[in-house]
Amino acid sequence: MTAETAYHGEMGRQFALQATTSVYNAHTDRPAMLKLAGDVSGSRVLDLGCGAGHYAAELLRMGAGRVVGVEGSESLLRAARERLGDRAVLHRHDLEEPLSFLSDQSFDLALMALVYHHIDQRAQLLAELRRVLRPGGTLLVSTTHPTSDWTYFGGSYFAAERVRLPFGGEFALSYWRMTLEQFLGELLGAGFVLEELTEPRATPQAEPIDLRRYEKTHQQPHFLAVKLRSP
Ligand SMILES: C[S@@+](CC[C@H](N)C(=O)[O-])C[C@H]1O[C@@H](n2cnc3c(N)ncnc32)[C@H](O)[C@@H]1O
Repeated sequence: MTAETAYHGEMGRQFALQATTSVYNAHTDRPAMLKLAGDVSGSRVLDLGCGAGHYAAELLRMGAGRVVGVEGSESLLRAARERLGDRAVLHRHDLEEPLSFLSDQSFDLALMALVYHHIDQRAQLLAELRRVLRPGGTLLVSTTHPTSDWTYFGGSYFAAERVRLPFGGEFALSYWRMTLEQFLGELLGAGFVLEELTEPRATPQAEPIDLRRYEKTHQQPHFLAVKLRSP
């Protein structure tokens, strides 16, 4: 995890708070990804870049049999531990490195919610996901929508570069802006099979929380989420 991508310290604390209630995380990305997950009862789930454990908590509530979270930021991992107690196994690990501590074919479902675009070593990470998912297992990935990045950062739609998005006044999120062709190309090139693609819009619960952002997600896609199968 580079210093630039790090959600350490105060930045992690602020993200954890935001992810609990924000229109974008709690009411747009998360419901869409959990809908894509479908029936998870009894499933062995791997949550990569698990943040403050919001997904893990929901997946356990939905009946997942075992949840393993992996996260690089100590402050977010602390928030995840507080949220989950001993209901999930949590590892501190840099996703730029192989997942050597996880066994072959040991998961039915893996998810990376708003994490993939932070990673440099994406081909290695996808190869590791192929290894730890059972044949026929599911991978869910969400990311920033390429047209949203294009609208915000300008320049060429086809630019593939690290960008910096201001966060919380004093911080910035650093991530890879990439085209739809590149995002899907990398996943399919790693051998995954696309099953479903969605451009999530905020759920009605978000409307009274933040009308401007709610309406924005209904006019301009903010995220992209895909469901893939490991052959
Ligand atoms: C936008 S947050 C999403 C968190 C969580 N998936 C959610 O949706 O609530 C991105 C997460 O990816 C983690 N992350 C980014 N790069 C990482 C890396 N190289 N190794 C481990 N975690 C990383 C961050 O610490 C952060 O928790």
